Amino acid sequence: MTTQKATNITWHEGDVTNKDREQLLEQKGVVIWFTGLSGSGKSTLARAVEKELFKLGHAVYVLDGDNIRHGLNKNLGFSPEDRAENIRRIGEVAKLFADAGIITMTAFISPYRNDRNQARALLPEKRFIEIYVKVSLEIAEERDPKGLYKKARAGEIKEFTGISAPYEEPINPELIIDTGVTDLEKSARIVVEYLKQNSVIN
Ligand SMILES: Nc1ncnc2c1ncn2[C@@H]1O[C@H](COP(=O)(O)OP(=O)(O)OP(=O)(O)O)[C@@H](O)[C@H]1O
Ligand SMILES: [Mg+2]
Repeated sequence: MTTQKATNITWHEGDVTNKDREQLLEQKGVVIWFTGLSGSGKSTLARAVEKELFKLGHAVYVLDGDNIRHGLNKNLGFSPEDRAENIRRIGEVAKLFADAGIITMTAFISPYRNDRNQARALLPEKRFIEIYVKVSLEIAEERDPKGLYKKARAGEIKEFTGISAPYEEPINPELIIDTGVTDLEKSARIVVEYLKQNSVIN
């Protein structure tokens, strides 16, 4: 748990509520949290869903791994502590986006169950949708879109998820999408359909 350092701080509410913003945008502000091995397809799938929702006229945004590590989290590495802090900050940012009414997607390996559950706990019930982008290590390694597995096997990357660092599978995710079996188009359709069924979009 991160402790509160500052004292004498007060939460300030405005007159425009989350509900007002959602009415204007005609959608619910949610966090769609993609988790899975490197190369499982989190970014690819999040971008496909983003494109689809954007076409339907929705306000969407993707927070993606490396991009965030270039800025907000540039002072963090890949130790368990830094990974936890990485996810904590992303969880807080995603929560702000969702509060703004945006359909917010995050595409991070987020290998630790506890870290993901803490991100979940920041949001109201039904506003955190965890999607396990599942794929075997063999397929992820075969894809190796960034050449990272090769480097990890060669010992050039330490603490690489699936090789030299753990990945803890979600126990009760809202969705599991096996990208070794389901193609990209179908995977994106499953997500959009889930959002409709759960009244995130109409
Ligand atoms: N059904 C599918 N859904 C998503 N990606 C797929 C699918 N089938 C094959 N792929 C391919 O798998 C690769 C997934 O790479 P991607 O960068 O999206 O993974 P990632 O989970 O974001 O990895 P990282 O954690 O390293 O960022 C891409 O090359 C993509 O084209
Ligand atoms: Mg990615």
